[in-house]
Amino acid sequence: MKRKISAVYPGSFDPPTNGHLDIITRASHLFPKIIVSVTENVNKKHIFSLQERIDLLQKTTKNLKSVEVVSFSGLLANYLEKINSFVLIRGLRALSDFEYEFQMALMNRKLNKKIETIFLMTDQSYTFLSSSMVKEIAMLGGNTSDFVPKHVEKELKKRVVSLSKGGYAK
Ligand code: COA
Repeated sequence: MKRKISAVYPGSFDPPTNGHLDIITRASHLFPKIIVSVTENVNKKHIFSLQERIDLLQKTTKNLKSVEVVSFSGLLANYLEKINSFVLIRGLRALSDFEYEFQMALMNRKLNKKIETIFLMTDQSYTFLSSSMVKEIAMLGGNTSDFVPKHVEKELKKRVVSLSKGGYAK
């Protein structure tokens, strides 16, 4: 049964993976609108710019009509208040995610008590997947085709080549 409210799926998505797509697709079966919200994670060094990540996600989710991809900056809790949307979607891959996610969910609710976080268990084929791992595999010349959509794989290959020549990295 779909709830009559939109849900926000936040992340840095550097790059988006099949694991992210799995969560977005399943969330879209539960909520009428999913707002995939891309941000800079100040603790991470991104290889794709914010706009590039938005473009990659838009292409990744092009068949999901109820999905919108936008960016936000600053505190997630403030952003949710601004767009008047208080349901957060997060994926849980393994037990190791739990502590961090638990802390983040509680902190977000402390910052704004209207915020509810809903966890979706990731598909078991993606439990080991992370954006960093995909980047590392690509940088070491490995095959990422099982982990990311085709267009992401293509852009990742190009970015890795450009980085190896001293090109852009944020
Ligand atoms: N499948 C595959 N990979 C997944 C996944 C899934 N279902 N779910 C998560 N991952 C990966 C992500 O790609 C990411 O990989 P990386 O660490 O190699 O980049 C990793 O798991 C962690 O994901 P996540 O916790 O979602 O990190 P993130 O950087 O994508 O997003 C924010 C974190 C942006 C949501 C968080 O930093 C934030 O809210 N920032 C705003 C500032 C703020 O409000 N801070 C206070 C929060 S209480």
